[in-house]
Amino acid sequence: MLILSIETSCDETAAAITRGDVADFKLLANVVSSQVKLHAEWGGVVPNLAAREHLKNIMPVIEQALQEAQVTKEDVDLIAVTNGPGLIPALLIGVMAAKTLSYLWNVPLLGVSHIEGHIYANYLQSKTINFPALCLVVSGGHTQLVLMKKHLHYEIIGETQDDAAGEAFDKVARILDLGYPGGPAVAKRAEHYKKIPNTKYQLLDAPLPRPMINSGDFNFSFSGLKTAVLYKFRALQKDLSPTEKELLVTELATEFQEAAVDVLVAKTISAAKKYEAKTILLAGGVSANLELRKQLLATIKKDLPDVSCVIPELSYTGDNAAMIGAAAHFRWEKMPKEERKKLDANWQNLEANANLKITFS
Ligand code: KG4
Ligand code: ZN
Repeated sequence: MLILSIETSCDETAAAITRGDVADFKLLANVVSSQVKLHAEWGGVVPNLAAREHLKNIMPVIEQALQEAQVTKEDVDLIAVTNGPGLIPALLIGVMAAKTLSYLWNVPLLGVSHIEGHIYANYLQSKTINFPALCLVVSGGHTQLVLMKKHLHYEIIGETQDDAAGEAFDKVARILDLGYPGGPAVAKRAEHYKKIPNTKYQLLDAPLPRPMINSGDFNFSFSGLKTAVLYKFRALQKDLSPTEKELLVTELATEFQEAAVDVLVAKTISAAKKYEAKTILLAGGVSANLELRKQLLATIKKDLPDVSCVIPELSYTGDNAAMIGAAAHFRWEKMPKEERKKLDANWQNLEANANLKITFS
């Protein structure tokens, strides 16, 4: 089974080739063309600009993936494409390219949820995942705790009531003028600061809130935390020298990251306890955050020593098509014959859906 996967839901044009079955599939090529520099000028992703870039890059990226994998279009058994959630102008380019190739090459076409892709990025890392598994999904658009009692079966047991975690990182970076993309910029500041041993905040007068940490459910809220950063920054930056202002920015970035990570880890651990998870997974762009990775691993080791933890390699945390391929192998394998047959007509039927939900199956 050779799968060509395509991902264009946001600002990365990506294609991957995977071969094998669920028990043993190999990633033969994983090409990602990032538009980060283009959108940096605007301080965020501009959907129509993203679409224009995807259109320019999609065929070269697919060709490069085929070349790197040393396969030809005749070898492709299935095309998988992200058909949501995401930015519609961006999604449409990947979906249209996939539909066209599906028609021209006469191969079935499978739509895959971007979130399902992020979750299955964990299977690029490890195939030994035990159920029930609990996945913390943290991206630019989503913050969810997803319980999986079996493969491809998702129950959202908690989610953000306002901003997503990545969105909060991006907004805090904007408040502190740290540039775009915000998550890595905030993390970089905090990482540098945390390396200094025994540092105490010199300018920040009180910890930031840990919103909903004791709410007793598994929901999150990051909008108030972001506003707390804004108010603190406004109040404390008055009369500071430029050097002091830089220190304040560093302290706020560090404390914001600490607060966000504290809440994410605490809720994941208590959900894992309640649902007796056997494996904890981490997914989405924010899973690149080193502090989150470190704290999650350390807390699982301390509080849930019998629970295993899988975290995707850094190169599979952000948007890529390899994760779409991983999910597609599982979807295909579990699909009854008559469902597989329907994929033949997807060159005509598949639709992009900005709000596509991960579904029970
Ligand atoms: O999964 P992703 O690449 O795109 C979406 O599906 O949304 O996630 C992007 C998000 C952005 O908000 C970005 O700032 C955040 O992930 N991010 C990080 C880090 N790297 C990326 N957030 C915190 N720390 C990081 N190291
Ligand atoms: Zn993503």
